[in-house]
Amino acid sequence: MALLKSRKIILNVGAYYPSLAVFPARASSVWSQVEMGPPDPILGVTEAFKRDANPKKMNLGVGAYRDDNGKPFVLSCVRKAEAQIAAKKMDKEYLPIGGLAEFAKASAELALGQNHEVLKSGRYTTMQTISGTGSLRVGGNFLARFYKSSSEVYLPKPSWGNHTPIFRDSGLQLGGYRYYDPKTCGFDFAGALDDISKIPEKSIVLFHACAHNPTGVDPKPEQWKELAALVKKRSLFPFFDMAYQGFASGDIDRDAWAVRHFIDQGLNIVLSQSYAKNMGLYGERVGGFTVVCMDAEEAKRVESQLKILIRPMYSNPPMNGARIAATIMNTPELRQEWLQEVKGMANRIISMREQLVSNLKKEGSSHNWQHIVNQIGMFCFTGLKPDQVERLTKDHSVYLTKDGRISMAGVTSANVAYLAHAIHQVTK
Ligand SMILES: Cc1ncc(COP(=O)(O)O)c(C=O)c1O
Repeated sequence: MALLKSRKIILNVGAYYPSLAVFPARASSVWSQVEMGPPDPILGVTEAFKRDANPKKMNLGVGAYRDDNGKPFVLSCVRKAEAQIAAKKMDKEYLPIGGLAEFAKASAELALGQNHEVLKSGRYTTMQTISGTGSLRVGGNFLARFYKSSSEVYLPKPSWGNHTPIFRDSGLQLGGYRYYDPKTCGFDFAGALDDISKIPEKSIVLFHACAHNPTGVDPKPEQWKELAALVKKRSLFPFFDMAYQGFASGDIDRDAWAVRHFIDQGLNIVLSQSYAKNMGLYGERVGGFTVVCMDAEEAKRVESQLKILIRPMYSNPPMNGARIAATIMNTPELRQEWLQEVKGMANRIISMREQLVSNLKKEGSSHNWQHIVNQIGMFCFTGLKPDQVERLTKDHSVYLTKDGRISMAGVTSANVAYLAHAIHQVTK
């Protein structure tokens, strides 16, 4: 009763002096020790972009495809698949823990290629996951629980910013290997081989299958061959993250080359897939996690444990995006249309790279910008220094992350000349 009374007094006072009313409640809160965390670096760029009134402003921070008018793009095959699904008036019951079976099968086929020996012998399991991020997290947790040979995962330096927290929160320890060479703005092949040859045997090594984020730098097939041989020799465990199949070169088979090569060398990899970029299904959260096993019996055991792991995480995955992706992959005409559309997206990006370089030349830039066309996929590591990035934003309203990464998807025929001009101004 006394307590109630005193609370009443504070509230009354609070009507006139609001801060007094708030203070006692905050001091006694169980969350008072929670510190303010830093904003997400990429979303922070978008926030600053939104506040800028310059009509020429460009947001090159965000990793989502835009068409040549700078607008978000929904693939025509996706619209058609949605219409087909709606017409079927299907129920909305829960999916099984591992997701939609026809999606999981098609996803594994897309990665490995139809009729691959692994698929025919059934020595794999694929779980539908919550896009690429969810897949990496399921994979991280699975390895932390069942991969008894090591709890260390080695990432390329640099890697996608979310890899570190995903694997750390999965209970793994993080290490790195040299990947990007700032001198050439290309792949540090010798550095990667040197570092990987010193990683403790049996450690987990993460590879981006194609369109490395954030650098846009991929090993060539000959280099992948040497990497696979080294991984095999040192009994390392390969974890492939394939978030951009088809989006890099425009060809789904070419982009999956490294994944297939490792498997063909007898390496039983794990693989994360995402349909965010190559089908433009960002918000639908469609992905897959595949474990290649020794035989079908082992695959069944692994599958049972993946389900046990997923059940208390999110119970089962969402169905809508998986139905769309499965309809596209399993309907010949839609699949054909998708392959054309993914090629169209990749080609637009490749063309923007070429136009950016030619506009830089037109501006009179004497720097070597060849890396812009050598790099592949959505991102370009420009090589711009932090002070140049700052001037690009402050003086020209071009927004990008501090590491000098630009999303080529935000570059269009209408703004490429302006971007070249701005880059020239801060680098001359
Ligand atoms: C390398 C890499 N892996 C995974 C992802 C996962 O993305 P999502 O969870 O949207 O599929 C991304 C997205 O940017 C990425 O770049």
